[in-house]
Amino acid sequence: MLLSIDEACFPPEIAYDAMDLRHMMSRAGAETLVLEEDGRIVAFLLMEVDRNRKTATLVTLDVLKDHRRSGYASSLLARSEQMLAGLGVTSYKLQVDTQNEGAISFYRKNGFRDLAAEEWTADMALIREIETKQGLLPDARVFMRRSL
Ligand SMILES: CC(C)(COP(=O)(O)OP(=O)(O)OC[C@H]1O[C@@H](n2cnc3c(N)ncnc32)[C@H](O)[C@@H]1OP(=O)(O)O)[C@@H](O)C(=O)NCCC(=O)NCCS
Repeated sequence: MLLSIDEACFPPEIAYDAMDLRHMMSRAGAETLVLEEDGRIVAFLLMEVDRNRKTATLVTLDVLKDHRRSGYASSLLARSEQMLAGLGVTSYKLQVDTQNEGAISFYRKNGFRDLAAEEWTADMALIREIETKQGLLPDARVFMRRSL
């Protein structure tokens, strides 16, 4: 179900395949929150929590097209933030495609701030290095962060 939502939300070259999604969801610290309507999952949020460092990464947040602009992503994000606050997490980060203007507006509205290159964490810098080697343009991603 979650796979089909991700496939419906992203073009094939960006959507996770079944193995990626299973892997991401079963990694240490992975937490998945779902939102149901009439007994059917219509949105989900996947995050990875590092309790030792008190940080979390929002891996993906997907809402089926027909259910957008109804506050579902806001509700899932708020639930994730409540959960993180309960775990003592103070920093929530994510990365998003530069072209994904809708998601960027959504995250900015929800308190995430774009990070300048000098503010990137080691993980972010490594992601950029790998992606650049794979031919992705340097400005293809926006890294964002918010304090909790
Ligand atoms: C981005 C996404 C998660 C937003 O989900 P949503 O449930 O529609 O978001 P909400 O209804 O909670 O939006 C709250 C506010 O965020 C902003 N927002 C949400 N989508 C927006 C868009 N496409 N363009 C501009 N602003 C947007 C608006 O301010 C909106 O308030 P409004 O509807 O009163 O104007 C959804 O569009 C989606 O699943 N996109 C495809 C997958 C994706 O790109 N996910 C992000 C991956 S990192």
